[in-house]
Amino acid sequence: MSNSFSDLRIVDNFYQTSGFFPMPTTLISTLCEDGLTTLGAYSLIFPYYIAGKKYHAMLLQCRNDSNTATNLFKNGKCAINFIPDKRKYFKEAVRLGYPGDTPQEKMKNCNFTMEDGLCIEADPETPRPKIIAEAFQVYECTWISTLDGAQDDVFHEGYTGPYRDFNGITSEAGAHFILRIDKILIKEKYKQIILNGTRHGGFPAVPVDYGYRDNTKFWYTPFRRPRSSALPKGKGLDVSVVMYSADRIDDKIKFTEEACEKLVKVPRVFLNRVLVSCVNWARENNVTLITEEHMNIINDKRSKEKNG
Ligand SMILES: Cc1cc2nc3c(=O)[nH]c(=O)nc-3n(C[C@H](O)[C@H](O)[C@H](O)COP(=O)(O)O)c2cc1C
Repeated sequence: MSNSFSDLRIVDNFYQTSGFFPMPTTLISTLCEDGLTTLGAYSLIFPYYIAGKKYHAMLLQCRNDSNTATNLFKNGKCAINFIPDKRKYFKEAVRLGYPGDTPQEKMKNCNFTMEDGLCIEADPETPRPKIIAEAFQVYECTWISTLDGAQDDVFHEGYTGPYRDFNGITSEAGAHFILRIDKILIKEKYKQIILNGTRHGGFPAVPVDYGYRDNTKFWYTPFRRPRSSALPKGKGLDVSVVMYSADRIDDKIKFTEEACEKLVKVPRVFLNRVLVSCVNWARENNVTLITEEHMNIINDKRSKEKNG
């Protein structure tokens, strides 16, 4: 058998030493004991719980002796600031990504403008780190320390365990943090684009970062206007398929054909779940025949919930 690849040894930090792995560039703000907000550069940050749980969460991987980890262990609050693509911002991110500097040293000449987030307004009693005004979006988060029994983890010099599987101190040098998203903050311009339908020109300019390579430099690519790709033809559902499933959800609550037409674009795997949620709405509103107008109301309600 032949194939077209070569085998590459897997070594530590394989995502940047053994390949090309595209990543986001974020600056994570955390709160120090003296009330100072400090920033660290982080790319290993990814959505973790995206649906079907009581909350939505991100997963961060970082050094367990970093300022970010130290502060998260102490007060559990952080903000993930997504910075736009500008040479001077990336340069500043690399400076804020240099290990060993204290928060005071890092923040003394910081180029970013720090301001309060939105969580502090809703709950002034709980101290929160400030956020970066130049970011295009920010996730304000809380570390869920109770997962994997990590609530007692406090890193100190000479720490020898226990090491958790996926949350808290996970190895001699590493920590993982499952971060509940408390609020998503986004600049008004991008909020409107999300609400009114995404356009090619509507994306914020974001850098794609390839990490620290050859022990000398951080690499990233500047932003390019995104392209879109339509769903494969013929993958949309026929209305009769929707009607067939709709008829089988409940013995009393039915859908008109026009109502079913509204669901032909829903991927097959999600269809039943969507139909059940429509039937639940109908039951709560004493509706036994779901019409196109009802579907509009349900859709409105869903998009309002989505947008908070
Ligand atoms: C663009 C960029 C991305 C980085 N991503 C990570 C990361 O995901 N995890 C990590 O442990 N370190 C990462 N680093 C290195 C940290 O920023 C570095 O350890 C820094 O000292 C952390 O700051 P802190 O100690 O103030 O938290 C990154 C550095 C840069 C410049």
